[in-house]
Amino acid sequence: MTDEPIEAGLTAFTLNGTEEEVYSSPFDTLADTLRRGAFRRFTPDPHTATKIGCDAGDCGACTVLLDGEAVCACLLPIAQVEGRHVETIDRLSQDSLSERLADAFAIHGAAQCGICTPGMIGAARALLRRSETPSRNDIETAIGGVLCRCTGYIKIIDAIASLAKPAGCAVAKPERVLDGGVGTRTENALAPYTTRGYSDFGADIVPEGALWLRVIRSPHPRATFTLGDLEAFRVAHGLDAVFTAADVPGRNRFGIFPTLKDQPVFAEGHVRFRGEAIAAVAGSRTAIEPFADTAFPVTWTPLSGVHGVDAALAPGAVALHDTAPDNVLTRGHLKHGDVEAAHADSAGTVTGTFETRFVEHAYIEPEAGYAVRTGDTVKVVASTQAPYMDREETAAVLGIPEENVIIVPSACGGGFGGKLDVSVQPLLAIAAWKLGRPVCLVYSRTESMVSTTKRHPARITAKASADAAGHLTAYEMRGDFNTGAYASWGSTVANRVPIHAYGPYKVPNVHNRTRAIYTNDTPAGAFRGFGVPQAAIANETLMDDLAAALGLDRWEIRRRNALGVGDATASGQVLHASAGLPQCLDALKPAWDDALRAAAAHNAKHLRRRRGVGIACMWYGCGNTSMSNPSAMRLTLARDGTLTLHSGAVDIGQGVSTVLLQIVREALALDGARVKLTEFVGSTAMTLDAGKTSASRQTFVSGNAARRAAIDLRAQLIRLANVPADATLRLIQPHGPLDPIPNPNDREPDFFERRAARKAHALERSLGAQLQIGEGPDSRTVPLAALFADGVDAIEAIGRYDPPTTALDANGQGIPYATYGFAAQIAEVEVDIALGTTKVLHIHAAHDVGRAINPTLVEGQIHGGIAQGLGLALMEEFIPGKTENLHDYLIPTAGDVPPISTYIIEDPDPEGPFGAKGVGEPALIATAPAILGAIRHATGVTMREVPVLPHRLFAALQRA
Ligand code: FES
Repeated sequence: MTDEPIEAGLTAFTLNGTEEEVYSSPFDTLADTLRRGAFRRFTPDPHTATKIGCDAGDCGACTVLLDGEAVCACLLPIAQVEGRHVETIDRLSQDSLSERLADAFAIHGAAQCGICTPGMIGAARALLRRSETPSRNDIETAIGGVLCRCTGYIKIIDAIASLAKPAGCAVAKPERVLDGGVGTRTENALAPYTTRGYSDFGADIVPEGALWLRVIRSPHPRATFTLGDLEAFRVAHGLDAVFTAADVPGRNRFGIFPTLKDQPVFAEGHVRFRGEAIAAVAGSRTAIEPFADTAFPVTWTPLSGVHGVDAALAPGAVALHDTAPDNVLTRGHLKHGDVEAAHADSAGTVTGTFETRFVEHAYIEPEAGYAVRTGDTVKVVASTQAPYMDREETAAVLGIPEENVIIVPSACGGGFGGKLDVSVQPLLAIAAWKLGRPVCLVYSRTESMVSTTKRHPARITAKASADAAGHLTAYEMRGDFNTGAYASWGSTVANRVPIHAYGPYKVPNVHNRTRAIYTNDTPAGAFRGFGVPQAAIANETLMDDLAAALGLDRWEIRRRNALGVGDATASGQVLHASAGLPQCLDALKPAWDDALRAAAAHNAKHLRRRRGVGIACMWYGCGNTSMSNPSAMRLTLARDGTLTLHSGAVDIGQGVSTVLLQIVREALALDGARVKLTEFVGSTAMTLDAGKTSASRQTFVSGNAARRAAIDLRAQLIRLANVPADATLRLIQPHGPLDPIPNPNDREPDFFERRAARKAHALERSLGAQLQIGEGPDSRTVPLAALFADGVDAIEAIGRYDPPTTALDANGQGIPYATYGFAAQIAEVEVDIALGTTKVLHIHAAHDVGRAINPTLVEGQIHGGIAQGLGLALMEEFIPGKTENLHDYLIPTAGDVPPISTYIIEDPDPEGPFGAKGVGEPALIATAPAILGAIRHATGVTMREVPVLPHRLFAALQRA
């Protein structure tokens, strides 16, 4: 061995059919070289279509073809590529199979956030070249190494199968819909980008002259520390700067709630969790990467940590924060009626204690972005779910007015709540502010997992009672939620859970109490459901217990108690409309009966592999709990007929951009009109605040705002044209199809010039746009420009909406949400009782979504939520220090997700846009309890701890 540096050199290979040379170290990976390499010949731009999700061969996002075989480009040293053929998703047009796959993914709705899509298409290409007649199993195997956290894989498999020859698993390709209104399966507005690798995620853009940032983090969950000679370290390593708490210009704190900013950007001599940032170094990539964290000049004094809620609540436990001497961040509470008396009077009472663990969001895109300072303004381009909240935090950290911070959301490679908190934003802003140069930061997979929030581990003890007919009489629960070292969304969880914890049922007496508790564990925050999935596990298991105690069928006890229109919740809210749980259960009844019969028939013949069927229900309030959560949307009609929705609602893959366009088209009622999306979706400088993308609120809240904007714009047109309100209007946009949806990222800093150029171009074309009034022979057309006053280039309409809720009183009484999603799901499983393994065979999911604005997107949300629910039930457990990568932390693959039968129930909510409600979080909540119920049906063992890993189930079976 020698310590001589490895010489960089040229590697020659064929890239997408073109001879190419690249200058790099021979050990640089193909993935990194494609994305950042110095290509010599025909490739002026980096190949960022190849994505990196883990850099360790675990997620498959970087899958490319090497001599026709699918490989992980992050595992392949560039030297091994010499003389070989590499194919990526770039330059799709050179490969008709890739084009057809991209189209199939778009038509089937197989790309949500799109971060996995280049890898998926790469794996599918390799398969379809090998075989034109693959089976579904072949497809699952082929994409088995590519993880998708959004889709649940079903639509990906369908898209690939649609290209199979009939002898294989061919499925029909749905009809293509591009500009549809409400209720149509319009293709995702971002599909032209996601399916071709054009979406620019946080790590895809490195501005010219940018420095790189690397964060130094604590290896200890609790410790004090002193910093050494930082300047000597900086000089020795050729760094441009080292930043610590002393360099934070403003408030070295951030947090979700205005009165609770408890998390430092850089710890100040004391860390509270493993992975907490203490410093950051800035420099060239070659300067920041080589040294080990242990080389950084810091002296640690590890202290014994407070781990788990028992330790945090023990007498004499160390208090993590002065503001919470008992380590209790928040208490949540709901009380209605007299539970003690009701329990005493009931025919059946059941109790149980349930445990859930930390769950990682595992979005395939680690946090990343860049920041640029221009004068007194800093712009941060990063992956986020909440640009306006990011702006507020970043401005406070810099100590500058919010107007001087611009947040531009990059494409977001999955969020699920994990990108509601700031991560890279303040770090980037501090560095760019101090250095006056662009700075970029890309978290590694492990860094993402150790430093960002998780689903709260919960311990829930609950008690439920019913009368002899199975009607619920009382429910009470106490839930402790481990919120980790900092508050994040712990208060939201503690307050949302009591409202939902008794399930979507009529319960006259309820008493629910929760606590969010500080510990020295990883901070827990928002994750698809805000604690309701944990509470549903307890509630639905007790529903099964009650059914067993009273001799009732499990479907029947739920149907007898299901909340419906006209019923009152335990918060005292009467559901005046849209409470479709009874319809969901009725839709599932045939499947329930069939599944029970099939399981019984199977079990009569098999002793080892036992089949079982479970059922669970859920409800979920859309939007913030008893708080204002407004959204505003702006819609413009330019002289040339260009209709643009300026949306601030961040699309994290759930499809809100598409949904809002559909709502606008429908509400405008302008035949023939094409509406495009602003290229600056979510930019705090270019769009209005639509609120955060969370709490299943965007379709409902921003959808209403978009609808109102469209109604207003139509009313303006009616006035300008001086025609009756119900006139049939047709917008003739004669300049041909609009440009493809522009990239939502701000690649170029001179967007004002670009906007001006577009405006000029639009004016040139303005003579052609026409408004046709009426239909048939009596119709007439007027030049659109004739309706505009001189000097007016565009008319605009702004729609605003804030859901009508009320504050809750001391007992949690009031109107916490304007509407609720409802669902019921059935799980069919097979348990190998010799091994303790569980295979989910089928999920039947009935969801009341009010109105399915886009059934394809609704199905996609349901599939993806079910996959995450399956992971929660059976496999996912984040353990700090142990499962900090996607090799040790397992999420469902294509082979783990069973067939899913979806039943979309439409019980329109008059408050919703065209009746719609949210479905993002409801999709997940019922899955885990349904699976637990199925395991119990199969084995007779009630699992009260998730995930039900094989060793846990095996031990429980042994005990039983
Ligand atoms: Fe697959 Fe988002 S679409 S990870």
